Parts: sequence; C-alpha cells; structure tokens
Amino acid sequence: TGYVTLDVGYKNTGATKSNITFLDGELGVLKYRGYPIEQLAEKSTFIEVAYLLIYGELPTAEQLTKFQSDLTHHTLLHEDMKKFFDGFPSKSHPMGQLSSLVAALSAFYPESLKSNQTAEEQNQSIIKVLAKMATVVSWIYKKSLGHPVIYPQNKYDYVTNFLNMTFGQRTEEVEIDPVVVSAMNTLLILHADHEQNCSTSTVRIVGSSESNIYASVSAGISALWGPLHGGANQAVIEMLEQIKNDGGDTDKWIAKAKDKNDPFRLMGFGHRVYKNFDPRAKIIKKACDDILEKLGINDEVLEIAKRLEEVALQDPYFVERKLYPNVDFYSGIIYRALGFPTDMFTVLFALGRLPGWIAQWKEMKENKEPIGRPRQIYTGATNREYVDLDKR
Ligand code: CMC
Repeated sequence: TGYVTLDVGYKNTGATKSNITFLDGELGVLKYRGYPIEQLAEKSTFIEVAYLLIYGELPTAEQLTKFQSDLTHHTLLHEDMKKFFDGFPSKSHPMGQLSSLVAALSAFYPESLKSNQTAEEQNQSIIKVLAKMATVVSWIYKKSLGHPVIYPQNKYDYVTNFLNMTFGQRTEEVEIDPVVVSAMNTLLILHADHEQNCSTSTVRIVGSSESNIYASVSAGISALWGPLHGGANQAVIEMLEQIKNDGGDTDKWIAKAKDKNDPFRLMGFGHRVYKNFDPRAKIIKKACDDILEKLGINDEVLEIAKRLEEVALQDPYFVERKLYPNVDFYSGIIYRALGFPTDMFTVLFALGRLPGWIAQWKEMKENKEPIGRPRQIYTGATNREYVDLDKR
C-alpha cells in the first residue's frame, strides 16, 4: 500500500536485523558472532565454526564432542537416494545436481516438512542437512568419475570424512594428508557466512514462507551457482587458464576488463560490500602460497593471478571503483592443488556456506519474521481492452 521505495538489487535496503555476521566493507572487517575471521581461520575448525554460527557460542569440549557425534551419526544417505545420483548424466554440472539432491532429501526425511517444528525437531533437521550434505557432495564427485561411492565412516571427523569419501578408495585405505585437512578447514571456515548475500537472502526468503530447510537450502544453492556469486571461483580458474593459453599477457586482459564495450569482467574482483581488501582474500592468498609449497605444486596460473592483482591494484579504473580481489580470486587455485576438478569449486563453496545458511534460516524463524515479499514500481501499460485472437 501507498509509498514504495525503489532499490533495485537491494543495494541499500536492510532486510533484517541479525546478530550472526558483522561486515565492514569500508575497512575490510569480517567477524562471525564477534570473532574476527582471521582468528577463526587460524585457530578453529569448520565444525566448531558451524556450531558457533548456528548456536551463537563457541562450543565447550563436551558440546563439540556431542555435535560432532550427532553429525557423524547422520552422515548416511537413505539407500534410495542413490537412484537420483544414477539418473544424472555423468557430465551434468555438480551444482544442478546438488540443488536437486538436497531438495530430494526432503522426501526421505519428511519430519522436516512440519512448519511448526519443536526446537528439538528443528535441531534434528539442522543436524541432518549438515551431516548429509558432505556425503551428497562427495558422491556427486564419485559419480562424475564413474567410480563407486564411498560410505561415510564414523571414525573420522567431518572434514576428514568428507575428504575420504571424495578421494578415498574402496579397495585400500588412503592416507588423508593433514595439510589437505587443514587447508580444507580453512577454506570452509572462510566461506561459512557472509551476512545477507544473494544466496543467504534467498534461503531466508524461501524459509520465510515456512518452506522446509531442504527446500530453502536447495534454493540457496541455485542462487550461489551464478558466476556473479559463488560461481566466480570456477570462472576465475577458467579465466586464468584462458589468459595462460593466450600467452599470459595480463595487460591485455586488464584492458578488456576496463573496456565498457567488452562484456569481460575480471572474475574474482570487486564486491558489493567490500570497498577495500576482502579480508578472506588476504587469508586465502597466504594460504595458497603455503599450501602449494607444502604440497610441492608449481601452478603457473598462480603467477598469472598475482600479476593480474598487482596490475589491477595500481590501475586507476580499479582504484577509483575500489575493486579489490575477493574470496574467489585465489580459492580455486587451492581447490585445484587439493585435487578437485574445476566444476566442483562452487559445490565446495556451498558446503562451506551451509552453516551460514542454516544459522540465518534459524534466526529468521526465531525472529518470527514475516513472509519476505518485496514491492515494485509498475511501469507497464495502464489500461487496455482485450483484443480477440482473430483481430491481432
Ligand atoms: N571487472 C571489471 N569491472 C568491474 C568489475 C570487475 N570484476 N566489478 C565491478 N566492475 C565495475 C563495473 O563495471 C562498474 O563500473 P561503472 O561504474 O563504470 O559502470 C563498477 O565497477 C561497479 O560495479 P557493479 O557491477 O555496479 O557493482 P555490484 O555491486 O553490482 O557488483 C560484483 C558486484 C561482485 C557482482 C561485481 O564486482 C562483479 O561482477 N565481479 C566479478 C564477479 C565476482 O568475482 N563475483 C564474486 C563476488 S565475491 C563472492 C561471492 O559473492 O560469491
């Protein structure tokens, strides 16, 4: 009714009050529940951060053990879920599979469909979606190779279990390198939440109609897929490869990015909120150097990425527009070093972002927020008389 304020792309519209993640785009500050991202990335684990985001506090040792154990006991998928995996062509994009498979989980765990869940029932749904997502992601990968899936094992923690299901073999015990476990924890922590971004806003708005958690998360995955959001990590590596194959002339590609008649954008650069260094990019850049060195990998695209960054940070076009490398600029280089194929990168982002989506979905419910329903300013025809088909 009445007056509508127009804010296309919600550039300046707060949709909610939230006490989960603090972000200062001017200063380049990011905190989860008040804890600086730098400290969490260095000292914490993904599962501890997931607990922090979802329940609001760092867990005690006892709470962490229980959380980990609850998760471990829900990592199995219903056997009939396997039929869905079999139905996809082996080359279909993992993000399309992931969003379909997560939505399909609602059919197997129908208690999630109750819109008036008790706190305990809601918590069970949260544990299940978090626990099962890692299995779904690993199985998508195994299926893409045509390999048999690896079942979750209770002896592993969440991240090791995920890596074992992804890179393990059925026939022999594979050592999971602690360097890889630690790198994976860091990357997942850095992606775990980022206030009201496109996919998180999607999760909240879908959940606001009292849709179940699987449907809400599945919608978030679809939003994340796009190259302007989570899909940027895949697009960055594809861009770096293209520059490499083109002879590695970074100046030429920077010029293309600046040319307004050329649709090319420097992927992994710029951010809606950060007008300064993305603090996650700083951590990832350093992690990238460390991990490649520890794993003894020499990747030429890392050199191209560093050259692009150096040139862009001195170029007036990027300086004036405050375009800095974002979280996606270096993450793909690490994922690649860990052995993931390019089209899995955005799926890994989704796995990392899941605790954030869950925490925000839960907060939206606790705040008793009304259904999300933006307005519009109508610009179409005012009044027209229907014309019969034979007169058009
Ligand atoms: N390369 C070249 N120019 C750019 C870029 C870029 N990567 N990003 C922004 N610009 C220019 C843009 O053309 C515009 O110029 P002008 O004012 O002359 O028209 C100005 O900078 C402002 O850009 P915008 O598109 O109006 O800003 P936005 O807030 O709507 O978009 C963004 C933010 C992240 C979508 C955009 O910077 C972009 O497309 N970046 C590349 C994709 C990318 O890396 N996305 C990942 C974002 S971080 C992780 C995540 O969210 O998943």
